[in-house]
Amino acid sequence: MHSPLVLVVLQLLASNCHSLPFFNGFYYDHTHPGNGTGNGNGEVHFNGVKLVVNTPEDALFAYRGGNVTLPCLYYYVPELYSTRRIRIKWSKLHKDNTKERDVLVAIGPRYRSFGEFRGRVHLRQTMAREASLVITDLKLEDYGKYKCEVIDGLEDESGIVELELRGVVFPYQPYGGRYQLNFHDAKKACEEQDAMLASFEQLFKAWEEGLDWCNAGWVLDGTVQYPITLPREPCGGKDISPGLRSYGERHKLLHRFDAFCFSSSLKGKVYYLNHPEKLNFEEAKAACQEDESTIAKVGQLFAAWRFLDLDRCDAGWLADASVRYPIAFPRLNCGPPEPGVRSFGFPDKTQSTYGVFCYKMS
Ligand SMILES: *[C@@H]1O[C@H](CO)[C@@H](O)[C@H](O)[C@H]1NC(C)=O
Ligand SMILES: *[C@@H]1O[C@H](CO)[C@@H](O)[C@H](O)[C@H]1NC(C)=O
Repeated sequence: MHSPLVLVVLQLLASNCHSLPFFNGFYYDHTHPGNGTGNGNGEVHFNGVKLVVNTPEDALFAYRGGNVTLPCLYYYVPELYSTRRIRIKWSKLHKDNTKERDVLVAIGPRYRSFGEFRGRVHLRQTMAREASLVITDLKLEDYGKYKCEVIDGLEDESGIVELELRGVVFPYQPYGGRYQLNFHDAKKACEEQDAMLASFEQLFKAWEEGLDWCNAGWVLDGTVQYPITLPREPCGGKDISPGLRSYGERHKLLHRFDAFCFSSSLKGKVYYLNHPEKLNFEEAKAACQEDESTIAKVGQLFAAWRFLDLDRCDAGWLADASVRYPIAFPRLNCGPPEPGVRSFGFPDKTQSTYGVFCYKMS
Protein backbone atom coordinates (compact mmCIF):
# COMPACT_ATOMS: atom_id res chain seq x y z
CA MET A 1 0.00 0.00 0.00
CA HIS A 2 1.71 3.16 -1.20
CA SER A 3 -1.12 5.63 -1.07
CA PRO A 4 -0.94 6.68 2.61
CA LEU A 5 2.73 7.49 2.21
CA VAL A 6 2.09 9.57 -0.91
CA LEU A 7 -0.60 11.47 0.95
CA VAL A 8 1.74 12.21 3.82
CA VAL A 9 4.35 13.61 1.47
CA LEU A 10 1.81 15.79 -0.29
CA GLN A 11 0.51 17.15 2.96
CA LEU A 12 3.99 18.01 4.13
CA LEU A 13 4.67 19.78 0.86
CA ALA A 14 1.42 21.66 1.10
CA SER A 15 2.12 22.75 4.65
CA ASN A 16 5.55 24.03 3.67
CA CYS A 17 3.95 26.30 1.11
CA HIS A 18 2.23 28.21 3.88
CA SER A 19 5.25 30.15 4.95
CA LEU A 20 3.10 32.23 7.27
CA PRO A 21 1.56 30.28 10.10
CA PHE A 22 -1.74 31.95 9.48
CA PHE A 23 -4.66 30.17 8.01
CA ASN A 24 -8.33 31.05 7.98
CA GLY A 25 -7.75 33.68 10.57
CA PHE A 26 -6.25 31.19 13.02
CA TYR A 27 -2.77 30.84 14.26
CA TYR A 28 -1.55 27.31 13.67
CA ASP A 29 0.78 25.87 16.18
CA HIS A 30 2.40 22.99 14.35
CA THR A 31 4.79 22.04 17.07
CA HIS A 32 2.27 20.67 19.57
CA PRO A 33 0.13 18.04 17.98
CA GLY A 34 -2.89 16.93 19.91
CA ASN A 35 -3.50 13.38 21.00
CA GLY A 36 -4.65 10.96 18.37
CA THR A 37 -2.79 9.07 15.71
CA GLY A 38 -0.07 11.66 15.68
CA ASN A 39 3.60 11.12 15.15
CA GLY A 40 4.65 14.55 16.30
CA ASN A 41 4.54 16.50 13.06
CA GLY A 42 1.25 18.34 13.48
CA GLU A 43 -0.35 17.58 10.18
CA VAL A 44 0.77 14.05 9.50
CA HIS A 45 -1.18 12.52 12.35
CA PHE A 46 -4.27 13.37 10.44
CA ASN A 47 -3.45 11.13 7.58
CA GLY A 48 -6.44 9.05 6.59
CA VAL A 49 -8.84 10.61 9.09
CA LYS A 50 -11.58 12.78 7.76
CA LEU A 51 -13.29 15.55 9.69
CA VAL A 52 -17.00 15.98 9.01
CA VAL A 53 -19.15 18.94 10.10
CA ASN A 54 -22.91 18.59 10.25
CA THR A 55 -25.41 21.44 10.20
CA PRO A 56 -29.17 21.39 9.49
CA GLU A 57 -30.25 21.81 5.88
CA ASP A 58 -33.46 23.66 6.66
CA ALA A 59 -33.53 27.23 7.87
CA LEU A 60 -34.28 27.88 11.54
CA PHE A 61 -36.97 30.35 12.52
CA ALA A 62 -36.83 32.62 15.51
CA TYR A 63 -38.32 35.82 16.90
CA ARG A 64 -36.78 39.14 17.72
CA GLY A 65 -35.87 39.30 21.39
CA GLY A 66 -35.78 35.51 21.65
CA ASN A 67 -32.87 33.09 21.84
CA VAL A 68 -31.85 30.59 19.20
CA THR A 69 -29.39 27.70 19.00
CA LEU A 70 -27.70 27.12 15.64
CA PRO A 71 -26.82 23.40 15.71
CA CYS A 72 -23.39 22.24 14.60
CA LEU A 73 -21.87 18.80 15.24
CA TYR A 74 -18.62 17.32 14.02
CA TYR A 75 -17.08 13.86 13.95
CA TYR A 76 -14.19 11.94 12.52
CA VAL A 77 -14.16 9.11 10.00
CA PRO A 78 -12.92 6.73 11.22
CA GLU A 79 -13.96 7.80 14.70
CA LEU A 80 -11.20 9.00 17.03
CA TYR A 81 -11.69 8.33 20.69
CA SER A 82 -9.18 10.75 22.07
CA THR A 83 -9.73 14.35 23.09
CA ARG A 84 -8.46 16.69 20.44
CA ARG A 85 -7.43 20.30 20.40
CA ILE A 86 -9.75 21.94 17.98
CA ARG A 87 -10.75 25.47 17.22
CA ILE A 88 -14.27 26.55 16.42
CA LYS A 89 -15.09 29.63 14.46
CA TRP A 90 -18.57 30.99 13.74
CA SER A 91 -18.96 33.71 11.18
CA LYS A 92 -21.86 35.38 9.47
CA LEU A 93 -21.99 35.59 5.69
CA HIS A 94 -23.09 38.79 4.08
CA LYS A 95 -22.96 40.63 0.76
CA ASP A 96 -24.27 37.69 -1.29
CA ASN A 97 -22.21 35.31 0.84
CA THR A 98 -18.96 36.70 -0.48
CA LYS A 99 -17.89 38.28 2.78
CA GLU A 100 -17.74 37.03 6.34
CA ARG A 101 -17.97 38.77 9.65
CA ASP A 102 -16.57 37.11 12.77
CA VAL A 103 -19.15 36.11 15.33
CA LEU A 104 -17.26 33.89 17.76
CA VAL A 105 -13.91 32.10 17.96
CA ALA A 106 -13.30 29.37 20.52
CA ILE A 107 -10.18 27.51 21.51
CA GLY A 108 -10.90 24.94 24.18
CA PRO A 109 -13.08 26.50 26.86
CA ARG A 110 -12.03 30.03 25.97
CA TYR A 111 -13.93 32.05 23.43
CA ARG A 112 -14.28 35.54 22.14
CA SER A 113 -17.23 37.19 20.46
CA PHE A 114 -17.11 40.10 18.06
CA GLY A 115 -18.87 43.26 16.98
CA GLU A 116 -22.63 43.35 17.40
CA PHE A 117 -22.51 39.77 18.77
CA ARG A 118 -20.29 40.64 21.70
CA GLY A 119 -21.94 39.44 24.89
CA ARG A 120 -24.87 37.87 23.00
CA VAL A 121 -23.33 34.58 21.82
CA HIS A 122 -21.83 31.51 23.40
CA LEU A 123 -21.16 27.91 22.43
CA ARG A 124 -23.41 25.09 23.47
CA GLN A 125 -21.45 21.90 23.98
CA THR A 126 -23.82 19.63 25.83
CA MET A 127 -22.53 16.56 24.05
CA ALA A 128 -19.17 15.48 22.74
CA ARG A 129 -18.22 17.09 19.42
CA GLU A 130 -20.85 19.74 19.60
CA ALA A 131 -20.08 23.27 18.45
CA SER A 132 -23.57 24.79 18.41
CA LEU A 133 -23.93 28.55 18.67
CA VAL A 134 -26.45 30.20 20.99
CA ILE A 135 -27.51 33.74 20.12
CA THR A 136 -29.55 35.56 22.75
CA ASP A 137 -31.73 38.66 22.49
CA LEU A 138 -32.07 38.34 18.72
CA LYS A 139 -32.00 41.55 16.70
CA LEU A 140 -33.77 42.22 13.42
CA GLU A 141 -30.39 42.28 11.65
CA ASP A 142 -29.42 38.80 12.91
CA TYR A 143 -31.19 36.91 10.15
CA GLY A 144 -28.94 35.36 7.50
CA LYS A 145 -26.40 32.59 6.97
CA TYR A 146 -23.91 31.52 9.58
CA LYS A 147 -20.85 29.37 9.01
CA CYS A 148 -19.69 26.84 11.61
CA GLU A 149 -16.03 26.07 11.02
CA VAL A 150 -14.13 23.36 12.85
CA ILE A 151 -10.36 23.34 12.56
CA ASP A 152 -8.23 20.44 13.64
CA GLY A 153 -4.63 20.74 12.52
CA LEU A 154 -4.76 21.19 8.80
CA GLU A 155 -8.25 19.81 8.50
CA ASP A 156 -10.76 22.59 8.23
CA GLU A 157 -14.38 21.80 7.58
CA SER A 158 -17.47 23.92 7.77
CA GLY A 159 -21.24 23.88 7.49
CA ILE A 160 -23.81 26.61 6.97
CA VAL A 161 -26.88 27.32 9.13
CA GLU A 162 -29.56 29.66 7.91
CA LEU A 163 -31.50 31.74 10.40
CA GLU A 164 -34.72 33.49 9.51
CA LEU A 165 -36.70 35.80 11.71
CA ARG A 166 -40.44 35.50 11.75
CA GLY A 167 -41.65 38.92 10.84
CA VAL A 168 -44.02 41.14 9.02
CA VAL A 169 -43.33 43.40 6.03
CA PHE A 170 -45.26 46.63 5.67
CA PRO A 171 -45.13 49.37 3.05
CA TYR A 172 -44.24 52.73 4.50
CA GLN A 173 -44.89 56.30 3.39
CA PRO A 174 -43.78 59.10 5.68
CA TYR A 175 -45.61 62.24 6.66
CA GLY A 176 -45.77 64.21 3.44
CA GLY A 177 -46.98 61.33 1.37
CA ARG A 178 -45.88 59.21 -1.51
CA TYR A 179 -42.37 58.95 -3.01
CA GLN A 180 -40.48 61.19 -0.56
CA LEU A 181 -37.65 58.87 0.45
CA ASN A 182 -34.26 58.21 -1.07
CA PHE A 183 -32.59 54.95 -0.04
CA HIS A 184 -30.97 56.41 3.08
CA ASP A 185 -34.16 58.16 4.18
CA ALA A 186 -36.03 54.89 3.68
CA LYS A 187 -33.61 52.99 5.93
CA LYS A 188 -33.96 55.66 8.58
CA ALA A 189 -37.75 55.83 8.27
CA CYS A 190 -38.05 52.08 8.94
CA GLU A 191 -35.67 52.29 11.90
CA GLU A 192 -37.68 55.16 13.38
CA GLN A 193 -40.74 52.90 13.28
CA ASP A 194 -38.94 50.08 15.17
CA ALA A 195 -38.30 48.13 11.98
CA MET A 196 -35.62 47.79 9.32
CA LEU A 197 -35.63 48.04 5.55
CA ALA A 198 -36.89 44.65 4.31
CA SER A 199 -34.60 42.33 2.38
CA PHE A 200 -35.65 41.09 -1.03
CA GLU A 201 -36.35 37.64 0.46
CA GLN A 202 -38.54 39.12 3.18
CA LEU A 203 -40.54 41.12 0.65
CA PHE A 204 -40.86 38.06 -1.56
CA LYS A 205 -42.14 36.00 1.34
CA ALA A 206 -44.65 38.74 2.20
CA TRP A 207 -45.85 38.71 -1.40
CA GLU A 208 -46.27 34.92 -1.21
CA GLU A 209 -48.41 35.51 1.87
CA GLY A 210 -50.61 37.96 -0.01
CA LEU A 211 -49.06 41.44 0.27
CA ASP A 212 -50.36 43.66 -2.51
CA TRP A 213 -49.18 47.25 -2.75
CA CYS A 214 -49.27 49.51 -5.76
CA ASN A 215 -46.52 51.96 -4.76
CA ALA A 216 -42.86 51.18 -5.37
CA GLY A 217 -40.59 50.99 -2.34
CA TRP A 218 -36.93 50.58 -1.49
CA VAL A 219 -35.59 47.19 -0.50
CA LEU A 220 -32.36 46.60 1.45
CA ASP A 221 -30.38 45.54 -1.64
CA GLY A 222 -30.88 48.97 -3.20
CA THR A 223 -33.56 47.88 -5.66
CA VAL A 224 -37.05 49.30 -5.87
CA GLN A 225 -40.00 46.90 -6.08
CA TYR A 226 -43.67 46.48 -5.44
CA PRO A 227 -45.66 43.31 -4.73
CA ILE A 228 -48.77 42.63 -6.78
CA THR A 229 -51.15 39.80 -5.97
CA LEU A 230 -54.12 41.00 -8.06
CA PRO A 231 -52.79 42.28 -11.42
CA ARG A 232 -54.55 45.49 -12.50
CA GLU A 233 -54.05 48.27 -15.00
CA PRO A 234 -52.50 51.02 -12.86
CA CYS A 235 -50.13 48.55 -11.17
CA GLY A 236 -47.96 47.28 -13.99
CA GLY A 237 -50.76 45.93 -16.18
CA LYS A 238 -53.67 43.52 -16.02
CA ASP A 239 -52.15 40.88 -18.25
CA ILE A 240 -48.92 40.42 -16.37
CA SER A 241 -48.87 37.58 -13.87
CA PRO A 242 -48.82 38.38 -10.14
CA GLY A 243 -45.38 38.93 -8.67
CA LEU A 244 -42.84 41.43 -7.50
CA ARG A 245 -42.59 44.21 -10.03
CA SER A 246 -39.06 45.57 -10.06
CA TYR A 247 -37.65 48.94 -11.06
CA GLY A 248 -34.20 47.44 -10.58
CA GLU A 249 -31.43 49.30 -8.81
CA ARG A 250 -32.05 52.99 -8.38
CA HIS A 251 -29.83 55.90 -7.45
CA LYS A 252 -29.64 55.82 -3.67
CA LEU A 253 -29.46 59.59 -3.27
CA LEU A 254 -31.41 61.00 -6.18
CA HIS A 255 -34.37 58.69 -6.61
CA ARG A 256 -37.33 58.80 -4.27
CA PHE A 257 -39.86 56.12 -3.46
CA ASP A 258 -41.66 54.58 -0.49
CA ALA A 259 -40.06 51.94 1.75
CA PHE A 260 -40.77 48.33 2.62
CA CYS A 261 -40.05 47.82 6.29
CA PHE A 262 -39.60 44.57 8.23
CA SER A 263 -40.57 44.13 11.86
CA SER A 264 -40.64 41.11 14.14
CA SER A 265 -42.32 40.36 17.44
CA LEU A 266 -41.51 42.63 20.33
CA LYS A 267 -41.16 42.64 24.04
CA GLY A 268 -43.91 44.52 25.74
CA LYS A 269 -47.38 45.26 24.47
CA VAL A 270 -49.31 47.59 22.19
CA TYR A 271 -52.80 48.64 23.29
CA TYR A 272 -55.56 51.06 22.44
CA LEU A 273 -55.73 53.54 25.28
CA ASN A 274 -59.03 53.77 27.08
CA HIS A 275 -59.62 57.49 27.22
CA PRO A 276 -62.84 59.46 27.71
CA GLU A 277 -62.29 61.90 24.81
CA LYS A 278 -61.00 61.82 21.29
CA LEU A 279 -57.53 63.33 20.97
CA ASN A 280 -55.38 65.39 18.66
CA PHE A 281 -51.81 64.25 17.98
CA GLU A 282 -50.10 66.15 20.83
CA GLU A 283 -52.79 65.11 23.30
CA ALA A 284 -52.38 61.53 22.14
CA LYS A 285 -48.66 61.51 22.92
CA ALA A 286 -49.30 63.07 26.33
CA ALA A 287 -52.07 60.58 27.13
CA CYS A 288 -49.72 57.62 26.58
CA GLN A 289 -47.12 59.27 28.79
CA GLU A 290 -49.68 59.69 31.55
CA ASP A 291 -50.32 55.98 31.24
CA GLU A 292 -46.57 55.37 31.70
CA SER A 293 -46.05 54.28 28.15
CA THR A 294 -45.16 55.85 24.81
CA ILE A 295 -47.18 56.36 21.68
CA ALA A 296 -46.75 53.20 19.55
CA LYS A 297 -44.61 53.13 16.43
CA VAL A 298 -45.90 51.76 13.15
CA GLY A 299 -43.62 48.70 13.28
CA GLN A 300 -44.86 47.91 16.78
CA LEU A 301 -48.50 48.07 15.70
CA PHE A 302 -47.82 45.75 12.75
CA ALA A 303 -45.91 43.30 14.97
CA ALA A 304 -48.70 43.25 17.57
CA TRP A 305 -51.30 42.72 14.85
CA ARG A 306 -49.32 39.97 13.14
CA PHE A 307 -48.04 38.05 16.18
CA LEU A 308 -50.53 38.83 18.94
CA ASP A 309 -53.69 39.24 16.86
CA LEU A 310 -54.19 42.79 18.08
CA ASP A 311 -57.66 43.71 16.89
CA ARG A 312 -59.33 47.04 17.45
CA CYS A 313 -61.93 48.70 15.27
CA ASP A 314 -61.02 52.20 16.47
CA ALA A 315 -58.56 54.41 14.66
CA GLY A 316 -55.67 55.74 16.73
CA TRP A 317 -52.67 58.00 16.42
CA LEU A 318 -49.20 56.54 16.06
CA ALA A 319 -45.73 58.01 16.64
CA ASP A 320 -45.26 59.22 13.06
CA ALA A 321 -48.59 61.14 13.24
CA SER A 322 -50.36 58.59 11.06
CA VAL A 323 -53.71 57.13 12.09
CA ARG A 324 -54.34 53.38 11.77
CA TYR A 325 -56.16 50.46 13.29
CA PRO A 326 -55.35 46.73 13.36
CA ILE A 327 -57.91 44.10 12.34
CA ALA A 328 -57.03 40.45 12.92
CA PHE A 329 -60.63 39.21 12.62
CA PRO A 330 -62.33 41.01 9.71
CA ARG A 331 -65.96 41.99 10.20
CA LEU A 332 -68.56 44.43 9.02
CA ASN A 333 -67.70 48.14 9.26
CA CYS A 334 -64.04 47.44 9.99
CA GLY A 335 -62.56 47.74 6.53
CA PRO A 336 -61.93 45.16 3.80
CA PRO A 337 -62.65 41.43 4.25
CA GLU A 338 -58.97 40.57 4.77
CA PRO A 339 -57.08 40.97 8.04
CA GLY A 340 -54.74 43.94 8.01
CA VAL A 341 -53.65 47.23 9.49
CA ARG A 342 -55.97 49.87 8.03
CA SER A 343 -54.60 53.35 7.46
CA PHE A 344 -56.17 56.79 7.51
CA GLY A 345 -52.92 58.30 6.29
CA PHE A 346 -51.76 61.50 8.00
CA PRO A 347 -54.79 63.57 9.05
CA ASP A 348 -54.61 67.13 10.37
CA LYS A 349 -52.63 66.85 13.63
CA THR A 350 -54.79 69.40 15.43
CA GLN A 351 -58.07 67.53 14.99
CA SER A 352 -59.32 65.81 18.09
CA THR A 353 -60.92 62.98 16.17
CA TYR A 354 -59.08 59.79 17.11
CA GLY A 355 -57.86 57.60 19.90
CA VAL A 356 -54.27 56.46 20.40
CA PHE A 357 -52.25 53.25 20.43
CA CYS A 358 -49.65 53.13 23.18
CA TYR A 359 -46.66 50.83 23.68
CA LYS A 360 -45.46 49.64 27.04
CA MET A 361 -42.22 47.72 27.65
CA SER A 362 -42.82 44.99 30.17
C1 LIG B 1 -2.61 13.51 25.60
O1 LIG B 1 -3.53 13.00 26.55
C2 LIG B 1 -2.96 12.85 27.84
C3 LIG B 1 -4.02 12.18 28.74
O2 LIG B 1 -5.31 12.44 28.30
C4 LIG B 1 -2.57 14.22 28.38
O3 LIG B 1 -2.00 14.10 29.68
C5 LIG B 1 -1.57 14.85 27.45
O4 LIG B 1 -1.27 16.16 27.87
C6 LIG B 1 -2.14 14.87 26.04
N1 LIG B 1 -1.14 15.37 25.12
C7 LIG B 1 -1.35 16.40 24.36
C8 LIG B 1 -0.22 16.79 23.51
O5 LIG B 1 -2.42 17.02 24.29
C1 LIG C 1 -32.45 33.91 26.62
O1 LIG C 1 -31.32 33.55 27.34
C2 LIG C 1 -31.02 34.44 28.40
C3 LIG C 1 -29.66 34.09 28.97
O2 LIG C 1 -29.38 32.73 28.86
C4 LIG C 1 -32.13 34.36 29.44
O3 LIG C 1 -31.86 35.23 30.52
C5 LIG C 1 -33.42 34.78 28.76
O4 LIG C 1 -34.51 34.62 29.65
C6 LIG C 1 -33.68 33.95 27.51
N1 LIG C 1 -34.79 34.56 26.80
C7 LIG C 1 -35.82 33.85 26.33
C8 LIG C 1 -36.87 34.61 25.60
O5 LIG C 1 -35.90 32.64 26.49
